[in-house]
Amino acid sequence: MLADKRILLIIGGGIAAFKALDLIRRLRERGANVTPVLTKAGGEFVTPLSVSALAGEKIYQDLFDLTAEAEMGHIELSRAADLIVVAPATADLLAKMAAGLANDLASTLLLATDKRVLAAPSMNVRMWDHPATQRNLAQLTADGVLFVGPGEGDMACGEYGPGRLAEPLDIVVAIDAALADGPLKDKHVLVTSGPTHEPIDPVRYIANRSSGAQGTAIARALAALGADVTFVTGPADVPPPMGVSAVKVQTAAQMLDAVMAAPQADAAIFAAAVADWHVANAGDNKIKKGGNGLPTLAFAENPDILATVAQMEAGRPDLVIGFAAETDDVIANATAKRKRKGCDWIVANDVSPSTGIMGGSENDVTLIMEDGSEDWPRMSKDAVAARLAAKLAEVLS
Ligand code: CTP
Repeated sequence: MLADKRILLIIGGGIAAFKALDLIRRLRERGANVTPVLTKAGGEFVTPLSVSALAGEKIYQDLFDLTAEAEMGHIELSRAADLIVVAPATADLLAKMAAGLANDLASTLLLATDKRVLAAPSMNVRMWDHPATQRNLAQLTADGVLFVGPGEGDMACGEYGPGRLAEPLDIVVAIDAALADGPLKDKHVLVTSGPTHEPIDPVRYIANRSSGAQGTAIARALAALGADVTFVTGPADVPPPMGVSAVKVQTAAQMLDAVMAAPQADAAIFAAAVADWHVANAGDNKIKKGGNGLPTLAFAENPDILATVAQMEAGRPDLVIGFAAETDDVIANATAKRKRKGCDWIVANDVSPSTGIMGGSENDVTLIMEDGSEDWPRMSKDAVAARLAAKLAEVLS
């Protein structure tokens, strides 16, 4: 979807400017052309040479650069793009945009453009919370500027809170959404992800090694195609992607409740590694050592969320996709699992420790359908997600 799109990327002067390099790489991987503009302050954090080398294009820095003016005027520069992206958008840049100042190349381009502008703010949490910044954001939102982030978390300045630049992949999703109505526009897709935690007592639980990386990547890829995504996640290692409705749960029972409470879905993907059992005799108080010898845990089976949805009499999504985490006889087990659970497709993967898949960044899957299977080469979990989302879009649209 980003192929041959022209992105004018304005890099402001913030500690997160280095992430703009990764953003350029990710955009180019997807076939976009990136024309970089570096503010004076941005140049204090990343070098023009590295930006220009990654973008594979000339970098623009000065309003009064006569060579650039002879080749391409600043008005043309601001209009030739399909979208203007400001990342990181500092408090200063946002203030200039809100006030309509045009005293350097970046602010002049932003004032002269007739294209949509997407800003990814990044600043210290107090600067973000300041009434002046909040006023500017309200003004820019009213002016039609789009925003992605900021995220919340530890900041380079040692404080905690909102102000972190959105992750490059989340910015890519926002760019995709800003540029086009994707093939999944108006479609609602439900995704489950991550492990579940089943309590033993108030302080202990049973869990599994799922990181939530594959489910998160799938939700992000679906959102990038324009889907409305409900993302029900257990306690994962990775944060939910932006642009989805995230519902955080702990246990399998809570995950089932959240899935059943979600709006009617056109498709559902069950990527969660749901615990098969919960502790039936979980204590309300912390189990103490000594006294009555070693504790004995009694297990009870958890509800099968995928099977429940796949076998629904009413309101079953048109396409129900499960995952099969296997360690032996992968294809035979997964094929049987697809039939047993009643889902349309099952994504089989070998989670034996030697594959490094569980908790790793790559996946090696076979997609099993009613009328055949596809063996995909080993690739990143992001690539698996993109391919699965594209295949789902073919069926639904
Ligand atoms: N699943 C689910 N609810 C459960 C167990 C599994 O929704 N209680 C879903 C998973 O999200 C996945 C699929 O079912 O999409 C298969 O999960 P997997 O762990 O491979 O299979 P199990 O059902 O646990 O079967 P087994 O333990 O026999 O391999």
